[in-house]
Amino acid sequence: MKPSFAIIGCGKVGMALAEYLSKAGYRPMGFSSRSLASARQAAEIAGVPECCFENIWNAPKTADIVFITTPDEVIKKSCRIIAEHKGFSENAVVFHCSGALASTELASAKSCHAKTGVMIGSMHPLQSFAAIKTGKSGNPFENIIMAVEGDPIAVEKARTIAVDLGAKPFTIKTEGKILYHAAAVVASNYLVTLMDLAIKLMAASGVSESEAFEILKPLIQGTLTNIETTGIPEALTGPIARGDVGIVEKHVQAIRLMPDRKAPKNLNDMVEYYSMNGVETIKIARAKGTLSENAAKQLLKILEAD
Ligand SMILES: NC(=O)c1ccc[n+]([C@@H]2O[C@H](COP(=O)([O-])OP(=O)(O)OC[C@H]3O[C@@H](n4cnc5c(N)ncnc54)[C@H](OP(=O)(O)O)[C@@H]3O)[C@@H](O)[C@H]2O)c1
Repeated sequence: MKPSFAIIGCGKVGMALAEYLSKAGYRPMGFSSRSLASARQAAEIAGVPECCFENIWNAPKTADIVFITTPDEVIKKSCRIIAEHKGFSENAVVFHCSGALASTELASAKSCHAKTGVMIGSMHPLQSFAAIKTGKSGNPFENIIMAVEGDPIAVEKARTIAVDLGAKPFTIKTEGKILYHAAAVVASNYLVTLMDLAIKLMAASGVSESEAFEILKPLIQGTLTNIETTGIPEALTGPIARGDVGIVEKHVQAIRLMPDRKAPKNLNDMVEYYSMNGVETIKIARAKGTLSENAAKQLLKILEAD
């Protein structure tokens, strides 16, 4: 028999867990949220409409596994409130799903039962849950990475849950959690920022903004494939890798002439942004071995001119 579970904080992630843990055979026990309406919706999705609770400490009382899927800033407080009301069962395993916070955020759960062991862990679905979607859109956990850490028993449980949800478990170090999250932010959010610059430059070249991404897409996908197959620095191509100083100089001059290159006060404008990335790219090109020391110095002079 699969373990029973409770969810505290029935939003985008909590709702998805309610649905797909139930579908995977886990037994829904209790749902609570800031509003009773959200808790009721989650309980209905899990097929147990009667299992919604007004007070957060009543929902997890008999659950083997508890997910605190509130916003990050209230995970610690919610856990403490439940612990103070003896809301965790004696051998419960308590998880949160934050990418940035470590399992230690749930330390108060251990004070719930002096002799027996409430275990704590974190399970971060490396996926973007943009809206509450039930039923129609498919399993959002399918084939995604689920980064887990915490007490050894909690990690073992988390890995099993991840597999049951269709995800791929990946164990990370508790003390490395914040840098793991910074990496995810760079890979996802900063990629969006970088694409925004590329689309603006493409638009300034005369291509319509609506076509700009379509034009760049095969290049982006090819670069991702190169990173996957050859790794960094080998995947780096282009004028900096080749040491083509004249082309980089022309880029900088052309961007400088763009009428709308200026960013709001105190933010880098496009020249600085292009140059900042260029300086980092020089380091990669040097590591690749295709950029001479002399060309690197000339490039730095151009890119650090402002
Ligand atoms: N969204 C993502 O893409 C994503 C991806 C990976 C991990 N995560 C993590 O998953 C967790 C939940 O994120 P989310 O995006 O699902 O957030 P969300 O959609 O904002 O849902 C959070 C829910 O918590 C409830 N809540 C707020 N304050 C509460 C409190 N004091 N006590 C009890 N319930 C409370 C809210 O309830 P009401 O609806 O009742 O007002 C809301 O439904 C976070 O730790 C987040 O870092 C999110």
